[in-house]
Order: sequence, then C-alpha cells, then structure tokens
Amino acid sequence: MEKQKDQKTSRSRCIVSVCFVLIVIEAVVLGLLWSLNYGGFSLPGMPIAGVNASLAEVASACNNADGGNGSAPQDNEHPLELEVEAPPCICLLRLLPSYDPHGTLSKKDMANCTCPSNVAANASSSPSSPVIGSTMPPSCPPAAPTQRPIEEQWYAKGRSWHMPPRFPRCTMDTCFNYSRCDSGQELLIYAYNLPAQPSQYFANIDKSRYYTDDPDMACLFFVFVDTPGLYRSEIHPRDLPYWHGGLNHVLITFGDKWLNKAPYPESIGYASAMATVMHETLYRPGFDVSIPLPPKRHFPDLRRLGPFERKYLMTFRGLRYLFNDGTLRSSADFRGMHNGADIIVVTSCRHSSHTGIRKENATLDEECRRDEALYDSYKFEDLMNSTFGLAPAGRQPASYRFAEILSAGGVPILIVDNYVRPFETLVQWHRCALQFPSTEIHRIISVIRSMKPEEVERRQRYCIQVYERWFSNEEALLKASIAAQKTRFMGAFPSWEPPLID
Ligand SMILES: *[C@@H]1O[C@H](CO)[C@@H](O)[C@H](O)[C@H]1NC(C)=O
Ligand SMILES: *[C@@H]1O[C@H](CO)[C@@H](O)[C@H](O)[C@H]1NC(C)=O
Ligand SMILES: *[C@@H]1O[C@H](CO)[C@@H](O)[C@H](O)[C@H]1NC(C)=O
Ligand SMILES: *[C@@H]1O[C@H](CO)[C@@H](O)[C@H](O)[C@H]1NC(C)=O
Ligand SMILES: *[C@@H]1O[C@H](CO)[C@@H](O)[C@H](O)[C@H]1NC(C)=O
Ligand SMILES: *[C@@H]1O[C@H](CO)[C@@H](O)[C@H](O)[C@H]1NC(C)=O
Ligand SMILES: *[C@@H]1O[C@H](CO)[C@@H](O)[C@H](O)[C@H]1NC(C)=O
Repeated sequence: MEKQKDQKTSRSRCIVSVCFVLIVIEAVVLGLLWSLNYGGFSLPGMPIAGVNASLAEVASACNNADGGNGSAPQDNEHPLELEVEAPPCICLLRLLPSYDPHGTLSKKDMANCTCPSNVAANASSSPSSPVIGSTMPPSCPPAAPTQRPIEEQWYAKGRSWHMPPRFPRCTMDTCFNYSRCDSGQELLIYAYNLPAQPSQYFANIDKSRYYTDDPDMACLFFVFVDTPGLYRSEIHPRDLPYWHGGLNHVLITFGDKWLNKAPYPESIGYASAMATVMHETLYRPGFDVSIPLPPKRHFPDLRRLGPFERKYLMTFRGLRYLFNDGTLRSSADFRGMHNGADIIVVTSCRHSSHTGIRKENATLDEECRRDEALYDSYKFEDLMNSTFGLAPAGRQPASYRFAEILSAGGVPILIVDNYVRPFETLVQWHRCALQFPSTEIHRIISVIRSMKPEEVERRQRYCIQVYERWFSNEEALLKASIAAQKTRFMGAFPSWEPPLID
C-alpha cells in the first residue's frame, strides 16, 4: 500500500529544460493519422524518424530530472511511456528501447495518438500529404516504483530472465481467506471481464462446473490481465469491485513478457499469479501456478510411434533472435548441434525487428541467409517425427514447442533459465522431460546418446500420459489449470483433491 502511494506522489513530470530533447515524430504521426483516429496499435519496423536524440538519451535525461525520480526504463520491465505533442495531435508512446538499438518501433511498442477527427480524415485521404511534425519536448513518464536492490548472484550475471524476487512474500496461510471457500463442494471461481475477458483455454470457464457468477459464493477470483490496448500503468487491480486487497484473487496472463505488461508487482497485494511465464525467482511455491502455452498444432499420428521408430533423434526448427533476450538460439553452441543427419537444428532470423541490424551487418545477414536456406529445406511436421524435441527459450523461457513436442510423442528437452515448468504440482516432469540451463547446451548430445533405450521408452510413456490427461485440448488445459489451483489447498477441502497421474 505504501509503495502504491509512493508511486503516485512521484508521478512528477521531469523539468522541461532537463528533458528538452527534441523529437520529431513526423513519420510515426503520419503513419498513425493515416491508420486511425486514435487507438493503440503498433507499427512494427517503422522508424521513429528524426529522433535526434536516441531513445536511450531521452530516457537518461528523464531519469536525471527531478533528482532521478523520473523513470527511465532501466530494463525491459519498465518500458518508457512518453507523452509527445505533435500538434494538432497528442501521442502516447510506449517504447521498449532495449528491444531495438536502432530506433525503430517494434511490434511491442505502442503509440496512441489523439487527434481532431478532421485531421485524421485529411491525412487518410492522402497519406503522403505534408509532414505533420513538430519539435516538442517529451513529457517524462511517471517514476517507476522503487525497487530494493538485491545483489545479483554470480552465476546469473549476464543471463536472461534472472530478476530479483519482487512479488510480496505471500503464502496460503498469510494471504488467503479460506472462509470464502466454504460455500461449495467444488472450487468455485468468479471470473471478471476486466481489464480483459477470459481468454485462451479459459474462454469457456463460465460453462464449467467451477464457475459462479455470484461473488459471495466464489473462493477464487480470476482476473485476466492481458490487455494489448492498455499500458500497465492504466491497469489498477485495486479498482476491481471485489478486490479486498487482492485476497483470493488470481491474476492470469499468457503474455510472453508479462512483467512488462501486467500490473506492477507492487500493486498486486494478496493476489496470486497464474502465468505462462513464471520465473523461479518470482514464484511463490504453493501460492502461484505456472500454466503452459497451448500447443498451436497437435500431431496424433506421430504420437503412436515408439521412440525408436522415428526419423530423427533430436530436432528444432524455429525463429532465433539477434539481440537481447532470446539470443540463446543464435548461439554457436545451440546451432552447432545440427549434424544434418539424425540431429536437425535449423533457425531463421526472419523477424520484423531484425531488419535494421541485418542491414548494418553484412556478415550477420549472410549468416542468417545461410541458416534460412537450411531452415527452408526442412518441413516442421517432418521434424516432429523425432525421439527428442528441443524447446529452447525464445524471448522468454516458455515456448509453444514444449506442448507440441508432447503432442507428437516426443521427449522434450528444455533449454531454459529461471523457469517454473507448467503444472509443476500436477506433473512429475523429471519423469518426462530433460532440462538444461543455457550454459550447459554442450552436454545435451552426449546425454541423449548415452541414455538407455528403456529409459527413453519410460519417459515417452509418461510424457504421453501427461499430454493426454492435461494438454490434449482446451478442455483438458482448463481442467488442469483448475486442478493446479486445487493443489494450493493441499486437501484442506477434501472433495477438491485433484486427480494425479500415477
Ligand atoms: C488512447 O488514448 C485515448 C485518450 O487518452 C484513450 O481514451 C483511449 O482509451 C486510448 N486507447 C488505447 C487503446 O489505449
Ligand atoms: C536533427 O539533426 C539534424 C542533423 O543533425 C538537423 O539538421 C535537424 O535540424 C535536427 N532537428 C532537430 C529538430 O533538432
Ligand atoms: C525522489 O523519491 C524519493 C523516494 O520516493 C524521495 O525521498 C525524494 O524526495 C524524491 N526526490 C525528488 C527530487 O522528488
Ligand atoms: C482538412 O481539409 C479541409 C478541406 O480540405 C480543410 O478545410 C481543413 O483545414 C483541413 N484540416 C486540417 C487540420 O488540415
Ligand atoms: C474472510 O471471508 C469471510 C467470509 O466472506 C469474511 O466474513 C471475513 O471478514 C474475511 N476475512 C478477511 C480478513 O477478509
Ligand atoms: C516417421 O519416421 C519413420 C522413420 O523414418 C517413418 O517410417 C514414418 O513413416 C514417419 N511417420 C510419419 C507420420 O511421418
Ligand atoms: C556482425 O555479426 C557477426 C556475426 O554475428 C558478429 O560476429 C559481429 O560482431 C557483428 N559486427 C558488428 C559490427 O556488430
């Protein structure tokens, strides 16, 4: 609570003179006007034309203003939210500068301009009409909540996703009201439509036996926080009608960088989190729940094949990233596992945010082209016909590939740091998957080549049971998520015991 107050009082704008970094946003504004009257949307790859100071400089100017209370994005978790005047419009830009060192808007960046409607109409009739641009000082964003500095562990230095714990230290006995759960033989859940509707495999939760539309009957309150149209500073969980400091609330997100988008950890109160990206350093065992990204495709025909009736031993085909989080897939250790025979590891750099960096670095571009030629010569479905499947972290540890490998009867090999595996209270993952930290990729091949056939078979059998029970469709995924919530109660409500796999 105190922290929230702090945050409010420090929403001071930074002093204009300090912050006087000129910005011309003609191209952005032109593009925006031409698209819509106003609204939040992204313009991947669009240059922020004429930004004379780099975004980093803007950030640092803001950071130094007011004795350092303006907020610059020290990291990706605090994107720069800038209000920029571009007469006759006012634009709110939300930028993740560290995603792109080249000053172009990426898919994750958002711009929301409000303009008089006649301007929009004019611009839309002729998108190449004279530049609407201006030199205005940006207003600095409100200060980010202050964080307790925590010493970085030596082994985490320089690695992605290692962030200090920040959620309040909650447990079921300190942050939960059991009395609210006395009204049903089932775990009853109320789901808000705010700030977002139930999505993904929760979309039909209102048709399940766990749902109640009566908040007085509910034991848990689900809050869906994936709101692409809103900035995180606009999401205020405390405004929810039954919030009570977050008691018995579960904040749910599928967002792949959810700490960038979900409500500030400082504002979640007693609420727990249920997320596809759950970091061990944030996770509160027995309180939070890690859920999977749902498979985009299922491979039932392949699932019938035994582990040694398959075309490949180990495969991966997917996107790699060229900077910041996600460069693991670009590493020589990772790509070097490819042998063109029983181990296929092929990557593509085709991503809108890579245009600039590829243009500037011919060596890199050449390397990407070579990789892409190889990538194009393998079909994804064909590569799923493999004993082991690699599920390396991309921009974040969770990947769709994990569940897809399970659906194909493959044994997943996770390459991740700081990741809580999905449904970890329901599934004994050590009986199915293998997992290597990003620093230990070099061990993978010798480990799988020396694994006893019986062990591979045992792993495959358990993996398939896990898949069929908990992953095989949206209904199974919803049931598993509720079952994972039930494990938080550890039998305190006997009729809620979730079924487990032997
Ligand atoms: C854009 O800004 C306007 C004005 O501040 C606001 O009413 C609107 O909700 C915003 N839209 C989105 C999608 O953020
Ligand atoms: C930005 O820099 C260019 C070249 O240095 C200069 O010509 C232009 O006037 C500058 N624009 C502003 C708004 O400062
Ligand atoms: C900056 O924030 C700190 C802590 O919130 C506060 O003590 C300090 O007075 C603030 N400084 C200014 C210049 O506002
Ligand atoms: C929009 O176009 C109309 C007619 O062409 C013109 O009268 C008006 O001034 C224009 N508005 C702006 C803001 O340019
Ligand atoms: C817990 O829930 C019960 C029943 O809804 C209520 O009477 C009680 O005041 C709650 N306790 C707290 C600490 O919120
Ligand atoms: C998988 O690979 C095996 C071995 O090469 C082959 O016999 C089988 O037809 C393949 N199955 C599918 C569905 O592609
Ligand atoms: C260009 O890319 C190559 C290959 O990734 C890299 O080794 C080199 O350091 C890059 N050069 C520059 C100037 O960034």
